[in-house]
Amino acid sequence: MGKRFFKQTIRDVDVERQTVLVRVDYNVPLHEDGTISDDFRIRASLPTIKYLLDHQCKLVLMSHLGRPEGRDEKLSLAPVAARLAELLGRSVMFIDDCVGDKVRQTVRHAPCGSIILLENLRFYKEEEADDASFAKALVKSSGASFFVQDAFGAAHRAHASTHAITLCLPSFAGLLIEKEYTAITDAMAHPAHPLVAVVGGAKVSDKIELVERLITVADKILIGGAMANTFLKYKGYEVGSSVFEDGQDEVLGRIYQKAEEKVGAERIADLLVLPPDVAVGNKQSSERREVAIDGIEPEDMALDIGSRTIDCFSAYLRGAGTIIWNGPVGYTDNEVFSYGSARIALAVASNTKAISVVGGGDTADFVLKWDGNGGASFTHVSTGGGASLELMSGKKLPGIESLLDAYGPGVVH
Ligand code: ADP
Ligand code: 3PG
Ligand code: MG
Repeated sequence: MGKRFFKQTIRDVDVERQTVLVRVDYNVPLHEDGTISDDFRIRASLPTIKYLLDHQCKLVLMSHLGRPEGRDEKLSLAPVAARLAELLGRSVMFIDDCVGDKVRQTVRHAPCGSIILLENLRFYKEEEADDASFAKALVKSSGASFFVQDAFGAAHRAHASTHAITLCLPSFAGLLIEKEYTAITDAMAHPAHPLVAVVGGAKVSDKIELVERLITVADKILIGGAMANTFLKYKGYEVGSSVFEDGQDEVLGRIYQKAEEKVGAERIADLLVLPPDVAVGNKQSSERREVAIDGIEPEDMALDIGSRTIDCFSAYLRGAGTIIWNGPVGYTDNEVFSYGSARIALAVASNTKAISVVGGGDTADFVLKWDGNGGASFTHVSTGGGASLELMSGKKLPGIESLLDAYGPGVVH
């Protein structure tokens, strides 16, 4: 008996010809001129939309975009409706509100098989306040008989459209939620060993719970990015003018303590692997200079991992059974310092036998730009930033927990 997702999904309910309210995460990056710069999250929502259309549903889609304070036309979801229509090859109606008469009338008169996208939920402050009346208004205006949660990227938020709404309607998981949850939790909880994790990015404090969890579940944790600078400083190295985080000694002390309890003092460096060298320069420079970690000068800024580190990390990644990657290993805003992250991406993608899971907003952006294959070079590229980080860290996501439980053989709660 195979394992079953622990929540009921749209496959578990008779959705035929129903009006369905679907929470998607269309919080997409925009160019200065307001056009969409990356439609990864829109494409990721298509399987659920197509499934519901195949069952002649009337779809009412809702999302947030950005963090507006009140109504802000620059953060309208109208361009997303146009892109979704292009991707689906059929028309998508856009309503410039998410509750009220206009929504009610439009949905009521739309035939089965219609797709309607509502305006940015965060134009109403009630959305982020997890307001029960706003959730009820969403349900009433849409006339929906089911709620489908497919906004993995927003599932770590307890907002009206991800949490309060589940108290108003029978609530099911969409196919993206099922796929993301399963890919991430399986890789963390039932990995093919060795499980090798790459953790980078800006701040230790953002990822401390992830590193702690990885100490328990991973066989190797490769530390890169600005985060490595904070580790190196803790270890007594000079990091010069590099970006690092102050006040993390206590937290790092706890991490090393945990690592020691797991593998013993003499093997800590095999579990928590720090870079032996870094590439220095300045954020705008077109040149990189590589130095060993004991040769960082006061004016040096470490902006990427060096060649020895790349070779060392790549060798570990080649032998991995499972790979988790969260956080770029360098300053990816400058191509010169994206080299380390590109070589990590190559090492991960080249290990075709391993399960590879990539999470984190900037990491996913990076691998999707790097990959000529739309992300298919990896087993799973998450659409979630904070949500994937929280799930990888072992936290429960309110947007998923609040859905109806699945019962029966193969379900583990
Ligand atoms: P994610 O969104 O994938 O979780 P983070 O937000 O933690 O990743 O970190 C990504 C940011 O960290 C990027 O802006 C990247 O340029 C920056 N970064 C990584 N390494 C360095 C470094 N050595 N110095 C300065 N910035 C860095
Ligand atoms: C994201 O981009 O991580 C999600 O869409 C959630 O957005 P938020 O951090 O503004 O809640
Ligand atoms: Mg980020």
